[in-house]
Amino acid sequence: MNRALLRSKAIVKNYTSKHVSEHVPQEIFFCPEESLFYSQCLERMVLNTCEDCNSIVEFGAGDGSPVINSLLKSQFNGLIQGYELNSKSCEVAQFWIDRYKLSHKYVVHNSCFFQRDWQSAGNYLISNPPYLPAINHDLYMPALHGGIDGASITKQLMGMDCQSAMLMISAYSDPVGTIEYAIAQGYQVEDFMTSPMTFGYYSSEPKVRQRITDLHKYGKAFYSENIYVLAGVLFKKHSSKPDLSAELIKIMMAL
Ligand SMILES: C[S@@+](CC[C@H](N)C(=O)[O-])C[C@H]1O[C@@H](n2cnc3c(N)ncnc32)[C@H](O)[C@@H]1O
Repeated sequence: MNRALLRSKAIVKNYTSKHVSEHVPQEIFFCPEESLFYSQCLERMVLNTCEDCNSIVEFGAGDGSPVINSLLKSQFNGLIQGYELNSKSCEVAQFWIDRYKLSHKYVVHNSCFFQRDWQSAGNYLISNPPYLPAINHDLYMPALHGGIDGASITKQLMGMDCQSAMLMISAYSDPVGTIEYAIAQGYQVEDFMTSPMTFGYYSSEPKVRQRITDLHKYGKAFYSENIYVLAGVLFKKHSSKPDLSAELIKIMMAL
């Protein structure tokens, strides 16, 4: 078993195994706190509750651990089709899909999400998308670049006209503009969960921190010295439930 697989074994068993994180290959996204929170959002707001989600598409599967963990804790019987650019991440995801016999529920394609076969597109989107704001993608991990305000890929995903989308949104990546954009696309906020996050390896890169500081001056980034808020947000079109977007905006701007 190679190092990437060993590392992912630790992720699936224990998200907080710190000594393993020192040997992480940079190409595979590694932020256990964030992946765990994404997994919890999937479990509570999507897999254990949805009625319209037999066919789900995922942008940026990473090593697959968030979806695999949430599948192991739910009765979901549909199919999730994940897309991931990084081949090593896909290799790790496939290892765990096979190990847990989940290939009838989770397939990870090693290809760009935006170039996938649109015929097989699901109407339910899930993602912890790239949201690092920076002037360009010359970053520790370029695939995490979310444009100059961090929200470009999220907005691109919202423009795809899925009926439902569960997306992770960061309070330092123009959250208000992002939620307003979602509303303009016909979405409302049906549910959300929030969690404090510490600035980690990727968000502490100096050029990212500088851009976050600049966005704060323009009222587009909210955080304290120690933390920022990450939200898992369930966006729906044609929902019969109350729209929680005003409440979500208040929480995202709280720091
Ligand atoms: C923030 S990471 C999330 C990974 C995983 N879902 C998790 O939460 O642990 C975003 C992932 O999106 C992938 N990605 C970026 N652009 C992509 C694209 N156009 N198509 C597919 N995957 C992409 C990156 O390689 C990265 O693994």
